Amino acid sequence: MRKAAAALLMLAAAAAQAGEAGRRPYLMGCVGCHGEAGVTISQKVPDLKDQIGYFLHLPEGRAYLVRLPNVAFAPISDGELAEMMNYMVFTLGGSSAPRDAKPYTAAEVGKLRKQPLTEVPLFQYRSEIVERLIADYQAPEAMRLYGQGLYGQ
Ligand code: HEC
Repeated sequence: MRKAAAALLMLAAAAAQAGEAGRRPYLMGCVGCHGEAGVTISQKVPDLKDQIGYFLHLPEGRAYLVRLPNVAFAPISDGELAEMMNYMVFTLGGSSAPRDAKPYTAAEVGKLRKQPLTEVPLFQYRSEIVERLIADYQAPEAMRLYGQGLYGQ
């Protein structure tokens, strides 16, 4: 019993540490636009808070988050990028990720960041994913706020 409790405590400590490590690069490079809690002006910068995890329902959604140029080109290592992704998805995202979602690994983000979405209209690309998340995975309609009043919407 004690052993199990100690093991759980260690796991919790490791998770907290991982979260902390992922928070650092986020605060350095992303907080100006996305805000400390993952919300600024929802129409101009998509909310991460309580929303970003929904993208993990779809493989292309999971990939999209890393392939965004701001993310793919962040000046950090693959390991740091994976920690930052996990901080965004599992901490800022609250309970929005699917229950069985696997954390990002360094190998996975290393591969994805080599295919940055530099050649596609990002707003449209995102919209198509978001509409599927709302229709099929009970994602909140607030995910449509981003872009309202912009892009002729
Ligand atoms: C200059 C403002 C700005 C900065 C800096 C920025 N972002 Fe973004 N971010 C945006 C905008 C705008 C979008 C919407 C998609 C697009 O047009 O790129 C976005 C989209 C995202 C998304 C997808 C959310 C969704 O719902 O589509 C993630 C994840 C993300 N950014 C993470 C980051 C990370 C991590 C950093 C720091 C390395 C970062 N961003 C820096 C403005 C910014």
